[in-house]
This record gives sequence, structure tokens and C-alpha cells, in this order.
Amino acid sequence: MTKPKAPSMRSYGRHAFICMNGNCTDPEKAINLQQHFLALNRKHGLNKLRNPERVKCTLSDCLGVCSDGPILTVYPDGIWYHHVDKAVLEQIYQEHIVGGQPVEEHIFHRLFPQGQEPTYAPESRGDLAIAATGSSPDAEADEKKSENAVAPAHEPAPSPADGPTAAEIRAKVRRARKKKGLVIVNTGDGKGKTTAALGVMLRAWGRKMRVGVLQFLKNENARFGEIKAAQRMGDIDWISTGDGWTWTSKDMDETEARARHGWELAKQHISSGNYDLLILDEFTYTLHYGWLDTAEVIGWLKANKPEMLHLIITGRNAPKTLIDYADLVTEMRAIKHPFKEQGIRAQAGIEY
Ligand code: FES
Repeated sequence: MTKPKAPSMRSYGRHAFICMNGNCTDPEKAINLQQHFLALNRKHGLNKLRNPERVKCTLSDCLGVCSDGPILTVYPDGIWYHHVDKAVLEQIYQEHIVGGQPVEEHIFHRLFPQGQEPTYAPESRGDLAIAATGSSPDAEADEKKSENAVAPAHEPAPSPADGPTAAEIRAKVRRARKKKGLVIVNTGDGKGKTTAALGVMLRAWGRKMRVGVLQFLKNENARFGEIKAAQRMGDIDWISTGDGWTWTSKDMDETEARARHGWELAKQHISSGNYDLLILDEFTYTLHYGWLDTAEVIGWLKANKPEMLHLIITGRNAPKTLIDYADLVTEMRAIKHPFKEQGIRAQAGIEY
């Protein structure tokens, strides 16, 4: 028996459905909405068959909601919109279809939890570059065949005066989606700098990322609760590099030498490629006290930190150069402290 020939279809980016033939949408209204959607497609070049970001828009039979329509869905995002009129459609088109950001105020249902929608299909397929290169030798002929190619006479051609083009907006959104390893600094005189860093580490560990902690200055024989936790969790590298707090150190030269040794260790771990996230705990002191040259450290990080490595640096008095270099800086500010106001000493499991 001959196997029936499978049809072929060019790649596309999204598919929108507008309901009709049920109780919630007057068919004429649904048709007008689809026509307006297709006109916006033409305006943004998202009707062209060769554009892998092409957006299909189909009038559907009843979508099974049958109230508060017209209903419009966008797939594969799995986003459902209600009460879609011309103005709402334009907002959805601009923000969601072009900008990639669903319009929260008009959503009533999601197939996926918010923020966990599938990656934009042209991005997953890797054919965004093709979209950016524009026409190919037979593109013109194809475009003549493109879906809904006939634009109404009143539809104005986009001009530079209209502001950024769809391609420019999409490029901007793609840049905004770009991931990079962040440099995060937790500084200030309040408590919680290390604790916040460990919270991020816990989150990363939970996602099976490779994590490590280099602890500057804290006594390498100390067994804080967080170190015990890391030992129990396993697969967390915990490297102590210091000889105790500066104000308990009997030999400042030794402290300084240990800090320098710690930085050498840090450089090895940072450039090893073995981590997704590294914490340099209390590292700012090595810069603040001048044991390490801040400009040299930042210069080394700029040249050697792997692109996707997240680096968290904690400690008081973060130098301005470090703050300028970082992507995320948080200052912990002391408002009340149980020891200062009430003489309550640090308690195991809470402060260490
Ligand atoms: S007609 Fe709109 S969902 Fe049924």
C-alpha cells in the first residue's frame, strides 16, 4: 500500500486562534478581528512565508469558553485572552507578538505557569539569524504567495517616522532575553550579606547547577551551620582561605598573605570552568584593606571570568570600582540588632 505523501510547511513563530460560531463572539466581529490581525502581520513582515517568525492567525470554531469573548489564544505560549476588541488586539500584537511579553491584564488562562512558557520557537530552532538576513533569491516569488498577501488600500506602508521597525523591536527583545553570568555584590553594614548569597546558592544547587564557595577571612577551622549544611547536601565545594577575622588576627602580614593566597585560589576556581555559580564570601575586605589591587582584580575578572559564571561577592565597604563593574548590587543596612539593643548574643542556627 502506498504511503500517502506528507504535506510540507514552512517554519513559523506563533499561531493565534480567534473563536467564532459559539455564544461569545459575533462571527462578523471575529472576522474583522482576524483581518486586523493579518493587517498587523503585513505591517510587521510577519506574514512572509520565508520569515521563520511568521505568525499564523486562524479563525477557529468555538474554543469551548463561550463567555466574555471574543477569545484569542496564542500558541505555543498557551496564553488565552478575553474580551478582545480592536484596541486590545493591537496591544496584544505589539506587546506579546512583537515584544514577547504577554499582556497580563487581558489574560484569563495559561497552559503553562507564568514564566515557564516554551522558549520562543525560532530561538529554539536557531533560525532567528535567517529572519534577520532578510530576503533570499526566491523570497520575492514566495512573498507573492504569502498568506494573506493582499493588503487593503488604506493600510499605510511602515516608514521610519513610525518609530522602530518590528525587526528592531524583536532584536531588542532578544537582547533583553539574553542570559549572562551575573556579578552580584552584597555589601553594607547590616546582617544578611552572606545569608543572601547562600540563598542564591541554594536556589542554584536546587537546579542542579555546579556551585562553590570561597570563604575569605573566616577561620578555616570554623564549622558554621552553613558549612555543615553544605557538607550534608554534598557536591558543594566549600573552600576556606583565611585565618580568622581581621580584628582577631595576631599577625596582619599573615592575614594579608592568606588573602592573596585566597585570591590565587579564587582565580583558579573562576577560570576552571567547573562552576555555574561561585561565592567569594567576605572578599571585599581584601580590596578595602588594599591587600589586593581593586583595578587589577576587576581587570582580571573582565578578562577571565567565564561568560556564564555567576559570581557573588560579599562583605562591607565594596569599592566603587567593584560596584561599577557588578550587575547587581545590594546594600544591607542595619536598623536593629539583638546584641546592640538587648545584649542577646549570636545564636547557633540563626547567626552562624
Ligand atoms: S465562541 Fe468563543 S469560546 Fe465559544
